[in-house]
Amino acid sequence: MSDNQLWQRAADDIHWYQAPATLLDDSNPPFYRWFPDGVTNACFNAVDIHVAQGRGEQLAVIYDSPVTDTRRSYTFSQLLDEVSRFAGLLRSQGVEQGDRVIIYMPMVPEALVAMLACARIGAIHSVVFGGFASNELAVRIDDAEPKVMVSASCGVEPSRVVAYKPLLDEAIRLARHKPGSCIILQRPTQEGELVEGRDVDWASAVAAAEPVDCVPVNANHPLYILYTSGTTGQPKGVVRDTGGSIVSLKWSMKNIYNVNQGEVYWAASDVGWVVGHSYIVYGPLFNGNTTLMYEGKPVGTPDPGAFWRVIEEYDVKVLFTAPTAFRAIKKEDPDGKYLEKYDLSGLRALFLAGERCDPNTLHWATEKLQVPVIDHWWQTETGWSICANCLGIEQLPIVPGSPARAVPGYDVQVLNGDGEQAAAGEIGALVIKQPLPPGTFTTLWNAQDRFVKAYFSKFPGYYETGDAGYIDDDGYVFVMARTDDVINVAGHRLSTGSMEEVLADHPDVAECAVIGIADAMKGQLPLGLLVLNAGVTRPPAEIVAEAIAQVRQRIGPVAAFKLCAVVDRLPKTRSGKILRGTMRNIADGEDWKMPATIDDPAIIDEIGAALKQLGLPGH
Ligand code: COA
Ligand code: AMP
Repeated sequence: MSDNQLWQRAADDIHWYQAPATLLDDSNPPFYRWFPDGVTNACFNAVDIHVAQGRGEQLAVIYDSPVTDTRRSYTFSQLLDEVSRFAGLLRSQGVEQGDRVIIYMPMVPEALVAMLACARIGAIHSVVFGGFASNELAVRIDDAEPKVMVSASCGVEPSRVVAYKPLLDEAIRLARHKPGSCIILQRPTQEGELVEGRDVDWASAVAAAEPVDCVPVNANHPLYILYTSGTTGQPKGVVRDTGGSIVSLKWSMKNIYNVNQGEVYWAASDVGWVVGHSYIVYGPLFNGNTTLMYEGKPVGTPDPGAFWRVIEEYDVKVLFTAPTAFRAIKKEDPDGKYLEKYDLSGLRALFLAGERCDPNTLHWATEKLQVPVIDHWWQTETGWSICANCLGIEQLPIVPGSPARAVPGYDVQVLNGDGEQAAAGEIGALVIKQPLPPGTFTTLWNAQDRFVKAYFSKFPGYYETGDAGYIDDDGYVFVMARTDDVINVAGHRLSTGSMEEVLADHPDVAECAVIGIADAMKGQLPLGLLVLNAGVTRPPAEIVAEAIAQVRQRIGPVAAFKLCAVVDRLPKTRSGKILRGTMRNIADGEDWKMPATIDDPAIIDEIGAALKQLGLPGH
């Protein structure tokens, strides 16, 4: 079947108010438009359709929160009621089609309700992960210019309660753009103080709200903006459209994950990340699955059997998480003793993504779970997987270290530095021939030029993924490393550039570099090296502590920035480029060669000594 036939068939499988007569408008590359004259609604396809087709009593959402000891569920009928009333509340706050709404919430079902309510009235949501600090939220407020903010009084981490409300207030204070109102979910764990005239209490306002119906929107109408890390402190606002998202995500549920309507599907991630958008909220609901929202961790809530308890309790058929979650479980329960307490016979497959899946984790998970463990590769930009072992089409042999082959719709290639096709096995830039399939990003919010420049200019005709790797003789793709300054910490994508911007703001810092070094549990961790201004006499340890606090305060705890040292100089090439790769190799204890272009080889010894003091390599 050709790609066009495939997408035509997949499009026939969703609800349209007006079916598209044109499959793809390719008149203005790289701005391809799928289903350009179709009219649909994502909320209708996620919720209303199931009620209309007689599945109103089926469970749509299960909320399981070990951190608050709460369990709750919603049928599709109940979800429809919640969503249509919350949509009515948004309307009453002046939100209309095309307006933006920022959602800054923990893993509670109300976050999902708010997202679907936006889609219902054609408003564009932008969910910001709760682990980001006020400053990051403010940057997103200024870029998206939301009419309304939706938030909660607090989030609950195993070790502490995170008061979201003061973070939200501070973000609004910092931002130039001021949202009209804030709808606040008061959580019993810790309530927040409402600002009179601006803040609206979720519970009482929803109780008074009139339900509203779905607004038919053009297929290319933005469903959401999701900010992701680029190479600078200015995040990229990935925009995804409505029609492409519904078609691709619904298709992927059956063809990639092989789950059927009515089954329980669990993506153990967070609504603040792309995995949460695609596979906690939209994909499973488009497919009529029961989705699971889990407010907890793989370990410590209360023990490394947490995932197995959830799988047994709700008869989860497919689990999707990041390899780091399994490394965390394996570290605490290497022999899988907790597994023996639970019946996991219902589980059919484990899917892993978000970072490279190391073969050790793959082997351990396969041995313990006795189900196929499927590594798949994707990005915020693509919204769903580029390479995977598509269980609903044909299960391919599993090759450790590879997310298998390109998924239908993606023409993945490897290009060398000259932009030519690399031979099989040769490492180069992983690129995707245009057009990208439906459901991938259509632009960057407020940044059309950056969209073209960052992704489509280096290799004309191709989308540059920012990952390097190779394809073997059997068409298996191996994703090896990023080609930019993006690092991956516990499956979270972070920009070292943005951390450098924060460190450079410290009054005593003359110059700095942040590199991603290997970590056995989180995959990578950021490490900062600071060169101080001449004449600074304060103890370096004091400055390091301030620098660490500054990153936590400006970017957020999610940056996990805890390793930092003061050095006299940074190693550079003669043209002034900081030799980050060499420092990374030394920190990781890998073989390295003195770069021929280095300005002053003696600096390397100084760096080595500073890293040793931090306990690196082998930390
Ligand atoms: N709100 C506020 N703070 C948050 C947060 C949230 N939603 N999520 C994380 N944080 C904080 C944590 O409390 C932690 O703070 P600390 O420095 O005070 O301890 C910090 O951000 C780092 O969090 P995290 O990366 O989650 O590390 P962790 O040590 O708490 O847990 C894992 C490590 C591996 C257990 C966890 O990252 C995990 O379960 N990851 C796998 C699943 C996943 O989320 N993948 C994402 C993409 S699929
Ligand atoms: P994000 O946009 O946060 O989903 O991060 C996307 C990046 O995570 C990719 O560009 C890769 O660098 C990395 N990544 C995601 N999945 C995989 C995988 N299965 N194997 C290797 N790297 C991955």
